[in-house]
This record gives sequence, C-alpha cells and structure tokens, in this order.
Amino acid sequence: MSLAEGGDATVKAPDSGPRIIHDVLGIGFGPSNLALAIAVEEHNADQPAAGGIDALFLERQPGFGWHRGMLIDDATMQVSFLKDLVTMRNPTSDFSFLCFLRERGRMVDFLNQKTLFPLRVEFHAYFEWAAARVAHLVSYSSEVLSVTPVRDEDGGVQHFDVTCRTPGGLSATVTHRARNISVAVGLEPHLPPGTALSERVWHNSQLLPRVAELTAAGTPVRRAVVLGAGQSAAEAVDYLHRTFPDAEICGVFAKYGYTPADDSPFANRIFDPEAVDVYFDSPSEVKQSLFDYHRSTNYSVVDMDLIEALYATAYREKVQGRERLRFLNVSRIREVGIGDEGLEVAVEFLPTGERQVLATDILVHATGYRARDIGTLLGEAAKICLRDDGDAVRVGRDHRVEVTADVHAGIYLQGGTEHTHGLASTLLSTTAVRAGEIRDSLVSRLVAS
Ligand code: FDA
Repeated sequence: MSLAEGGDATVKAPDSGPRIIHDVLGIGFGPSNLALAIAVEEHNADQPAAGGIDALFLERQPGFGWHRGMLIDDATMQVSFLKDLVTMRNPTSDFSFLCFLRERGRMVDFLNQKTLFPLRVEFHAYFEWAAARVAHLVSYSSEVLSVTPVRDEDGGVQHFDVTCRTPGGLSATVTHRARNISVAVGLEPHLPPGTALSERVWHNSQLLPRVAELTAAGTPVRRAVVLGAGQSAAEAVDYLHRTFPDAEICGVFAKYGYTPADDSPFANRIFDPEAVDVYFDSPSEVKQSLFDYHRSTNYSVVDMDLIEALYATAYREKVQGRERLRFLNVSRIREVGIGDEGLEVAVEFLPTGERQVLATDILVHATGYRARDIGTLLGEAAKICLRDDGDAVRVGRDHRVEVTADVHAGIYLQGGTEHTHGLASTLLSTTAVRAGEIRDSLVSRLVAS
C-alpha cells in the first residue's frame, strides 16, 4: 500500500527528484480543492497513524481568496448554504456553514433571515475559516508552472513532478512529487478579441480593487460603461451606480433585456448529484441537449431580484427626470479609443447600424469566464491524457482523466469537465460530493497499489 506514513512519506525516488512523495498534490486552492482537503482531513482522522492520505495543496495567491474582485457588499450566493463544502457529503461534518455560524455566534440571527442564500462576503468568511483549519495542508504563494510525468526504469509513470514558483524571487521554484494530482484551477476571465486591459478598461473580476484605486486617487467618474448581460454585468452596473452617485452608468448588451436565471425547483435538479450520473452516462447528443435546455440556470442570466431592482431604479430616475442608469440594448461596442479625458466608446445599435460615441471614464467587460486550457498547465503531462473525437479530454466518472496504459499516476479534474459531468462542473453545487468521490477513488487506488 502506498499510503504515506503519517505525514510526509520519505521514499527514495527512482531518480534525483524530490524525496517526499505525496499521495495527492492539489493544484489551486479554491473551494473545490478546499473541499477535497477537508474530505482528506476527515478520512485521516478516522485512520491509524500510518493509514492516512498524504496531501499537499498548492495555491498561487498569498492566502485564501474566492473571487475577491467581485465581493460586492450586498451580493448573495446563488447556491443554497446547504451546498457548502461538506454537508451534501457528510451532514455531520463540523466543517459546515452552520458550524461556522455557530462558532461566530450568528446561527439564530442567520435563521431569522429565512434565506438559503447567504451574502457572498459571509460565504467567503466561511471558506476562509475552513481553509484556516486545514492550513497545514496548503502551500500559498506557490504558482504551479509545470507538471512532468516521472518515468521509472520500466518506462511506466508512477508519479508527477509538479514545479511551482515560490516567493523567493522570480526564478525561485520548488518541485514536489506525487502519485496523483487534483487540478482545480478554476476559470479565467474572458475578454472580446483584441481587448487591452488598462487602468480604465477592466474585466469585472478586477472591479473592487480598481474602484478602490480610483477612489483613493480621487479620480472623478462621470460615466462608466459595462458590457455584458449576465449576473456579473448586472451586479457591476448596480454597484457602480451606487458607488458613484454623480455618474451615468450605461449597460451595453446585444440582448433586448436581461434574462432571469432559472432557479425553479425542477430545473435546479440538473445540479443534483444524481444528475451527474445521468449526464455522464448519456450519449453526446443527449448531453448537448441537456446542456442547451438548462444553460439558463447559469449562463448569461441574472437573478430576478436584481433585474427588478435595476428596473425600479431606472424607472424612478425617469420619474424624477434625472436618468443616470441607462441600458443600451441590442447594441455592441465597436471601438474603444482614447479621448482627451478618458475613453471614447463607440456603441452600435444593431437594428440600424447607428453609432454613438460615449465619452467614458471606465469600461468594464463583464464578458464571462472560460475554462483554463489544461494542456497549457499540464505541459508534458497533457501528452499522456486521452482525448475524444472532439479533442476534449476523456474523464472517468471518478473525475480521473483517462491516460495511456503505461501511466499509473492519476490526474483528477475539478472544473473543466462540463463535457463529461455536466453543468455543475464549474459551480459549487456538487463540490462536497465530488470531493468525496475523488477522496474515495484515491483511497481505493492507493490501497490497490
Ligand atoms: P476557483 O476559481 O474558485 O479557484 C481556483 C484557484 O486556483 C484560485 O484560488 C487560483 O488562484 C488557483 N490557481 C489557478 N492557477 C493556479 C496555478 N497555476 N497554480 C496555483 N494555483 C492556481 N458558483 C456557485 O455555485 N454559486 C455561486 O454563488 C457562485 N458565485 C460566483 C460569483 C462569482 C463572482 C464568480 C466569478 C463565480 C461564482 N461561482 C458560483 C462559480 C465559481 O466558479 C465557483 O464558485 C468556485 O469558485 C469554483 O471553485 P474552484 O475551486 O473550482 O475554482
């Protein structure tokens, strides 16, 4: 059995590589790998000293942080607090959101709100609280640069070497070795082709720190343009409107109006753990239709409460005769130039082709996120991953990438698996359950080896 003995296993590696061989190295330490760290911790607590899983998680940020740039003070979660890091896997876990609330002395106060959807800032505090409890499993300020399969004398791959940049200067790197890796690096901001970010042109993921910079510098904001019609776009419009009380805020999008997110009970079942089984076992055309039918649970949609609040604000301003909140619908941004005092954003009204140029202080692209290309991150290790006819990575039900026959080391993916595991792949809905599935798969493979 290849389980680590207590903490770090000191096994002589077949070459001059790292002497410590971890059972699993997590790449990225957002909610997905945090949930896995907790699942490992709970498993190890039940094991005799020599029987635990030796895990280490590598995170490029200096501390835990979950989409900090969008931690708008009044934004709420879009998933029930019961879909926290543990409850769907182990309702008795003391890593639950309820245990966090109890520890903070807020359980009764929270319940009196009669909501399943906490503030995002509160859930962030919950994540931080949980991350602090497994801090001994995490190395922060460790950006993974490469993953290299290590071949033994027989040519088989039993391990990966994972090299990361460390804070000791640009060239400081350290290499860790593991029998398995769990890749959970999240999504990356998506921008329209040719977009150059700058002090005035942002992606919404930069919203809060950029606004804080402007405010600190005393830079006046007379107009801000937000491109996009999804949840982040609507939140950015609302936030900028409240933050700059003298500015005009323009939402620009190709749709006629914001589309409400479908969070109705039957549609929400697409995020059930059982739905992952159904999706996984479906032929590709059924997968595609399920995805298309239910994309309005997540993509390019906005919570109804926020839609109604924005509409009410726009209408109130119309009544009062001072319209600061404007929506340029059925429109696209065609050009962004630099003017005398800021940006000049050319917006085309699509039905007529008519253009207007908006002198603007800020342009926010709320244009979504895309899965990271794991080929780039995995580098050499990507070559051992099998791909399907559409060139997507083949992934098993246990979230492990299918690899060539000579590879015995495992690559687990959390996120980037919408094509195999469905819409919940990039969300929090099945995070706890998925972490348990990966933990169980690790245990059974480690026991078998
Ligand atoms: P996540 O992106 O959170 O974490 C990935 C981590 O990997 C990051 O900490 C990153 O720094 C690190 N990393 C990346 N590359 C690395 C490298 N090379 N080396 C080391 N570390 C690296 N979903 C939901 O279900 N309900 C909700 O309410 C919301 N709300 C929400 C709000 C906002 C503003 C956004 C942008 C997204 C959501 N989501 C959501 C979806 C979101 O994807 C989900 O909540 C989790 O962030 C997914 O967690 P992960 O750990 O998989 O990725």
